[in-house]
Amino acid sequence: MTTSFDNAAQVLTLPQPDLPYLRSNRANEIGLEPGGITIEHGRIAALEPTPDANLHIDATGCTLLPGLVDCHTHLPFAGWRAGEYEQKITGVPYEEIARAGGGIKSSANALNNTPDETVLAQAQELAGEMLRSGTTTFECKSGYGLSTAGELRALQLATELQQIVSQNTTRTGLLAHAVPDGYTTTTWMDEVETMLPEALEHITALDIFVESIAFGLDDLDRMGEFANKNGVHLRAHVEQFTTMRSVPVALRHNARSVDHLSTIHPDDIEPLARSDTAAVLLPGAEFMGAEHTAPARDLIDAGAIVVLSTDANPGTSPIFSLPLIIGLGARRYGLSAREALLATTLNAAYVLDLQQEIGSIELDKRADLVLLDCPAEHVAYRLGRNPVAATFIGGDPAYVRPDAAWRIMER
Ligand code: NIG
Ligand code: FE
Repeated sequence: MTTSFDNAAQVLTLPQPDLPYLRSNRANEIGLEPGGITIEHGRIAALEPTPDANLHIDATGCTLLPGLVDCHTHLPFAGWRAGEYEQKITGVPYEEIARAGGGIKSSANALNNTPDETVLAQAQELAGEMLRSGTTTFECKSGYGLSTAGELRALQLATELQQIVSQNTTRTGLLAHAVPDGYTTTTWMDEVETMLPEALEHITALDIFVESIAFGLDDLDRMGEFANKNGVHLRAHVEQFTTMRSVPVALRHNARSVDHLSTIHPDDIEPLARSDTAAVLLPGAEFMGAEHTAPARDLIDAGAIVVLSTDANPGTSPIFSLPLIIGLGARRYGLSAREALLATTLNAAYVLDLQQEIGSIELDKRADLVLLDCPAEHVAYRLGRNPVAATFIGGDPAYVRPDAAWRIMER
């Protein structure tokens, strides 16, 4: 099976092949030139179109991007927290809602009281929404289990989710998210250690929420040891509300990413930017929670590996659209179109350790692609509009917007 993408107005290309990531201060080297590509057996076989294909995609006037990668979501979860959002926007702080039993704990109750089929059906529907917004790979996390059985069930559900969605997914054990009732941070970390062998059957990364209302630097240190000892990546929710100085600790453990960073200490920017740890920024959570703004420009100019993700979850960021996140990120942080697209493709794939397989349009990579009906620069500019005409996974059309169906022609 050979597929040819013909006559795109813009094709996103990187300055060189085999990059694990591209530091964001090099985003201006990204190409957005007219062209086409050829797919064979689900992989990118040539960086030009071919007349001999069985399937032709007429990309006239369109932008061809690598499939978008959402490297930070909290799927699967149960239900929503719209009432809490209304409280928040009318003046009750997140920390106060959390202390009153809302926040993570209310999503944990919901998850624990919802049957597997219902949880999976909700996650499957959301994955469909993500596909229609161009997401071809996403991360799942546990974190709403808040007991050993609950966390392991969440990971098991995330594993099962892979069987019923079009996208490729990864699993992260956010095994320290909120401190469950009856535990201290330390006794809960002891519990995490005992559940690790089973959790490791599902996951490629461990995660922890370091915050005044959650876990501390010692717990981060311990999670870093667990990750390194067991050959999975450390990721961490850090500096979201309070400046805790988590970044130096995460860097000592060679974290794959540090996520949020809205209140990162200025002295931690340079060391982070010099490291191989990605800076995952979550403008949806910042916007919906009226949080502080991460110093994205400083991180980029210092050479960090900057990433944008949805943080999709029922509390801080009920947003599943990466085009919307690109728009919010561009406005909030002052990112160029190339910086924002790099942050949702190759650099996001790097966070999930999938950079050799996806994240860019280059030879032999899996043909996960997004066709936009507009110039790349319009994604951020026409905020809130979905520009995705079609999404391809492994070369196959996984979603085609009805008005774009004519573009796909069998020969
Ligand atoms: O990434 N900050 C910690 N965890 C999530 C929020 C979880 C929730 O409120 O349900 C986040 O923002
Ligand atoms: Fe998160």
